[in-house]
Amino acid sequence: MSAALLLVATPSVPGPRISPNTLSLNAAVAPPITLNDGNTMPDMALGVFRVPPGNATFDSVLSGLKVGFRSIDTAQLYQNEASVGAAVRASGIPRDEIFVTTKMSRGYIGLPTNYSTTLATLQTSLSLLKMDYVDLYLLHSPRDTEKNIKEQWEALIYAKKQGLAKNIGVSDFLAPQLQWLADASEKPVVNQIELSPFLYKYRKTVLDYCKEKDIAIEPWGALVTDKVLNDTTLVNIAKSVSKTVPDVLLKWSLQKGYLPLVTSTNTTHQKEDLAVATEDWMLSAQDMATLDAIGNSSYFGESPADIAGVGNISAFFPTANCPARC
Ligand SMILES: NC(=O)c1ccc[n+]([C@@H]2O[C@H](COP(=O)([O-])OP(=O)(O)OC[C@H]3O[C@@H](n4cnc5c(N)ncnc54)[C@H](OP(=O)(O)O)[C@@H]3O)[C@@H](O)[C@H]2O)c1
Repeated sequence: MSAALLLVATPSVPGPRISPNTLSLNAAVAPPITLNDGNTMPDMALGVFRVPPGNATFDSVLSGLKVGFRSIDTAQLYQNEASVGAAVRASGIPRDEIFVTTKMSRGYIGLPTNYSTTLATLQTSLSLLKMDYVDLYLLHSPRDTEKNIKEQWEALIYAKKQGLAKNIGVSDFLAPQLQWLADASEKPVVNQIELSPFLYKYRKTVLDYCKEKDIAIEPWGALVTDKVLNDTTLVNIAKSVSKTVPDVLLKWSLQKGYLPLVTSTNTTHQKEDLAVATEDWMLSAQDMATLDAIGNSSYFGESPADIAGVGNISAFFPTANCPARC
């Protein structure tokens, strides 16, 4: 990794409060994994869901890059793409060493979306990020008609051909929606879904489908919630390997071959999370089996109806709260 982490750009958003010149030149970075299109991406990403735009996102991303994250996950919905772009530029890390993901979120809030709207949305994201391309562009949600989802996917294939998105994928798709894309000329490289040991057994169908089609799984909700920090099974496993409960949850994900996402605005937590990807320790086969069996559907977060099928996420993101550009 070259990482000539020098100070350059002034961010176009307020900040920074973390000086780019404090960036480390030798932070360990998450190992790359190869996607089904032959490209690679780091096996752990820092996300910025619910991180306010402006200083909070700028500082979080810059701090994440400083500790060694090289994969950043944002979305149209998060309204902080401009701050992500500013932090990437301010880091001074060459653009091609940072893997940037964003998502077309209109389906999340129930806005029907066709081919041209999808491409227009990507262009808006690129303008906000001030980037020529994103490394990964996702359909944020399957909450639209089969016809529209197929059009959206064709638009992503076109965007990839045009070099606007190096890789394309989906989020929160279950097996039936993935099947809608089965006849397309390209398949998704990733499916970003809510997944942790607690949800593992409820996700069998979609996980089996993705495994068969070589679609990588990017778990969100990998750390579950604060509620599980005192879970007896997790605490006992964590003690036995002299690690923390978040460490165990992330290692479970990585050992499964998944690419977990974490959110943290706290540099210490960011370091701890990334260390799980860079440090060479393993959970035993017995611990992995224990975690696989720990199922508890009460830990479904924002996609509770996904247990049965496609959920009604609009309850969580009412249209009234969406910015006009959604
Ligand atoms: N595609 C989708 O539908 C979807 C949905 C949700 C999320 N996502 C993506 O996934 C990312 C992760 O989201 P998430 O919901 O799964 O959040 P998460 O990673 O579970 O983060 C939740 C909280 O965990 C805390 N945390 C992180 N590392 C920790 C550690 N080592 N010890 C203790 N606490 C720690 C963070 O607080 P501190 O800031 O205090 O560290 C954070 O607020 C998002 O940013 C987004 O990019 C995608």
